[in-house]
Amino acid sequence: MIRIDSVTKRYPDGTVAVDRLSLEIPDRSITVLVGPSGCGKTTTLRMINRMVEPTEGTITLDGEDIQRQPVTTLRRSMGYVIQNAGLFQHRTIVDNIATVPRMLGWGKQKSRARAAELMERVGLDTALAGRYPYQLSGGQQQRVGVARALAADPPVLLMDEPFSAVDPVVRKGLQDELLRLQDELGKTIVFVTHDIDEAIKLGTMVAVLREGGRLAQYAPPAELLSAPADGFVEDFLGADRGIRRLSFFPSATLELTTDAVIPADAGAERVAASGAPHLLVTDADGRPLGWTDRRAASAGTIDTGQLVPHGRPFVPGTDSLRVALDCAVLSPTSWAVAVDDTGRVTGVVSQQTIADAIRAAHTEDRTSADGRSDKAEVAP
Ligand SMILES: Nc1ncnc2c1ncn2[C@@H]1O[C@H](COP(=O)(O)OP(=O)(O)OP(=O)(O)O)[C@@H](O)[C@H]1O
Ligand SMILES: [Mg+2]
Repeated sequence: MIRIDSVTKRYPDGTVAVDRLSLEIPDRSITVLVGPSGCGKTTTLRMINRMVEPTEGTITLDGEDIQRQPVTTLRRSMGYVIQNAGLFQHRTIVDNIATVPRMLGWGKQKSRARAAELMERVGLDTALAGRYPYQLSGGQQQRVGVARALAADPPVLLMDEPFSAVDPVVRKGLQDELLRLQDELGKTIVFVTHDIDEAIKLGTMVAVLREGGRLAQYAPPAELLSAPADGFVEDFLGADRGIRRLSFFPSATLELTTDAVIPADAGAERVAASGAPHLLVTDADGRPLGWTDRRAASAGTIDTGQLVPHGRPFVPGTDSLRVALDCAVLSPTSWAVAVDDTGRVTGVVSQQTIADAIRAAHTEDRTSADGRSDKAEVAP
């Protein structure tokens, strides 16, 4: 565990970049430092690998004061990734990634083999190995940066706005990739960003810093959204934190109804038996085809050419309450369609039922013993 204990950094010109900061950074999870520009995020990160030395306070790694460790040993245990990847422009991709292994004397063959393995790990085609950084896209360069930091398998990864320079689509891909990698590798990651959504998505714990390098709040993301410590944190979280909080609740508990789901070849009798105003019509495999209203359907056989598109369905157990709500809001009937992993309909649920579930989830959360909820295993 990394423990930052009452650390202050005053630069020679008198700027207080970090002010009596204390944080316990848990092992094998992602801790995010977030806050506005100039609030001391980079300074804090650099104090962890001693690129910057604190003015006061101590930082320990696994109980040992990092001041007592030789800088080279310390840095070897910490990969470092920065914005724009910071690659060596005159070295090929494979040699960039192999930098640290080569420094550690692994030999050319072994280092390159390790680099190739890491390229696959971070989702890079090994055919790119011989290229130079300028021959890659920004997103690819960023992946190289991550691979390079992981090359010597350090237990700690320090990442300073690693995904800030790429477009939103590539950025989402890189974030998903990092979460997947982290599942496999279980590193202790300290991740700096000024993007609160990125912080909420990636962080197991999130430290919100304010100007002057002071800690505003340190909490799991769900708690940040449900109980911001003050107006600063609340403003920083943005206007729709109630909706975003729904990402942390599963949709699996929603009560689905199958009364409104009928196969395309159902007879008028079956249609008449349903009490639902709208009917979701399915094909012979149980996959959704679209909506019809009961009156049109009860007139005779269902005309599958006249159905209203059903929109995007959700998968209970995988998707969050936020996704289910979004499906209902976008649905022409205000009912969301639930499917299993294979795309077969398991039922439908109304906006009203979802609203009731949201109210219940909020109430339960407020009355739960410690008020902290772990990151839900659901897709936001
Ligand atoms: N070498 C330095 N000398 C003097 N002041 C510095 C130095 N480096 C940073 N600062 C100041 O310390 C404060 C914190 O800087 P830092 O780079 O840690 O912020 P940051 O949170 O990473 O900001 P950003 O989001 O813009 O990257 C700023 O006011 C900055 O101007
Ligand atoms: Mg910075």
